[in-house]
Amino acid sequence: MAVRALLHYALEVPDQTVGEKFYRSFGLTEDSGGDPAVRLRPAGLKREAVRLYAGPKKRLHHVAFGAPGDDFEATRESIKRAGVKEIDPPKGASGDGIWLRDPDGNAVNVRQEAAPLAPADPPLTLNSPGHIMRIGLRGYPEHLEPRPRKLGHVLFFTPDMNRQIDFYTRVLGLRLSDRAQSIVAFLRCSTDHHNLAFLQSDRPGFHHGSFEVGSVDEMAMGATTMGDRGWEPFWGLGRHVIGSNFFFYIRDPWGSFAEYYHDLDFIPESCAWEPRDFPPDDALYKWGPPVPEDFGLNRELEG
Ligand SMILES: [Fe+2]
Repeated sequence: MAVRALLHYALEVPDQTVGEKFYRSFGLTEDSGGDPAVRLRPAGLKREAVRLYAGPKKRLHHVAFGAPGDDFEATRESIKRAGVKEIDPPKGASGDGIWLRDPDGNAVNVRQEAAPLAPADPPLTLNSPGHIMRIGLRGYPEHLEPRPRKLGHVLFFTPDMNRQIDFYTRVLGLRLSDRAQSIVAFLRCSTDHHNLAFLQSDRPGFHHGSFEVGSVDEMAMGATTMGDRGWEPFWGLGRHVIGSNFFFYIRDPWGSFAEYYHDLDFIPESCAWEPRDFPPDDALYKWGPPVPEDFGLNRELEG
């Protein structure tokens, strides 16, 4: 019993056109789905990773997970066993799959779908001490358009982290990968170190969606490109402790973020991974520019 993939996240936003412009600059492609939501996807994938619905202000509309094959009915059973009621899809969303709410009230959709297949890139050819991969060739990147390969994870604010961890592990079968006390927690439903994370706040909220890119060059040049296009490269380049990924956060039009990441910890199902409880100093990063003061601010508390 478990969900196996993070499929997409959906936001309600006051101006879908601005949102579409942001995510297009970020490197996603728009799909005209013929429904009320703007759908955006990595160019190499056949399904969307982000949906934008119209609403009075930015907030999470829903998050969708995939439970392919037998996992779908097993997940439905688990939901029933936990006494969690199925709900009608939120306004505007199609009725596919199972709909429920997590303890924070976030709408969750479980669909009988596997993660979309991301085509593999050619291997990176990096020269490191004793390991020469690139011989007789210049290594500096030509212009690199940011090209997210897939949605990796979402991070939500929560007023009750342990309640969220309990719900997502017990009811939907995610696993806790690591945490930093009651500050932040990271869960996975695939071989990625995390697909869902929670940051402590007074209220629920959407913090960021994170997308894998092909290299550190692509992250840094992607952030520069976003700056050139009038968006705000907010925090990066840096390296997280938990999950180990390089990160670069770009501020979205609503004060939350979209993240480029690269080189995340990979945890196969067979791996005896022991979750660790990191000290607060390790909650955010190993190196990088100082954390901007309002990085952890839940703007959904305002107004
Ligand atoms: Fe992230």
